[in-house]
Amino acid sequence: MISCPDVQKNVIRQHYNISTIFYRILWGQHIHHGLWSANESPKVAARQLTEQLAREADIRQGDRVVDIGCGMGGSSIHLAKHLKCEVTGVTISSFQKRYATWSSRLAGTSSKTSFLCEDAEKVELPVGSFDVAWSVECTEHLFDKPAFFRKMATWLRPGGKVAICAWLAGDSPLSDSQTKLVYDVCEGFFCPSLGSEQDYCDWLTAAGLKMTRVHNWTTRVSRTWEICRDRVHRFGIRRIASIIDPGQVIFIDRFQTLLDAYNTGAMKYGCFIAEKI
Ligand SMILES: C[S@@+](CC[C@H](N)C(=O)[O-])C[C@H]1O[C@@H](n2cnc3c(N)ncnc32)[C@H](O)[C@@H]1O
Repeated sequence: MISCPDVQKNVIRQHYNISTIFYRILWGQHIHHGLWSANESPKVAARQLTEQLAREADIRQGDRVVDIGCGMGGSSIHLAKHLKCEVTGVTISSFQKRYATWSSRLAGTSSKTSFLCEDAEKVELPVGSFDVAWSVECTEHLFDKPAFFRKMATWLRPGGKVAICAWLAGDSPLSDSQTKLVYDVCEGFFCPSLGSEQDYCDWLTAAGLKMTRVHNWTTRVSRTWEICRDRVHRFGIRRIASIIDPGQVIFIDRFQTLLDAYNTGAMKYGCFIAEKI
């Protein structure tokens, strides 16, 4: 695991309260990578990642799902709409909670979704009450990942599944320059640490879960950042961000760092499915 001790939780909250609208304009409702098979549009690729994760976890019609770090509700609404799941979304951002609630109403899924503005590391949810614990690109922001996975496991019924997509530190050993790239990504994207693929498998296993699938999707997702980098330049988003909150500009400036990290093996993008024994 590579850590960046300077990251603070209130900065993460502030980032998502301020920047969610930029994510919406720049990328769409899903704040996660696209998953490409060929030359699909970014919108289709983003949807494909959600669909593929749902297939990997074998999510069934009507499953009860907790969506940790639910963003604008992209996954929650998709699962409610297409698989009739009952979804509880949790986000640290009050803006996102309001956006997701409003968006679910527009999508006609409000009876199947509820959104909470809570810290995933502190939220109390009923033990054994979910079939699936889903988290796409949120665990990067958590400070005590092993403790979070232990907590997450308690929310599942026996046989319930964990479905996670996460940015990862590359396989060790990493060179000094690779370690620096990971650190710079953590700093720019407000991640207190990034675990490796092995770290995630160890943490999930230690939480009493059995690993059933692990995928390295790095080459299928990295195009996301070429597209975001080009869109930021084209639409002058860096300048707008620097006027609204100069503290957020570091995030935009690290898009190329993330691409470099993927391209050099300093980082990977992983999908993990685990089952509660
Ligand atoms: C990269 S976005 C992913 C959003 C969503 N999963 C998606 O795929 O569209 C990261 C999400 O994690 C949430 N987050 C970060 N730290 C959190 C915490 N401690 N508790 C709850 N949510 C958190 C953010 O508010 C944001 O919604």
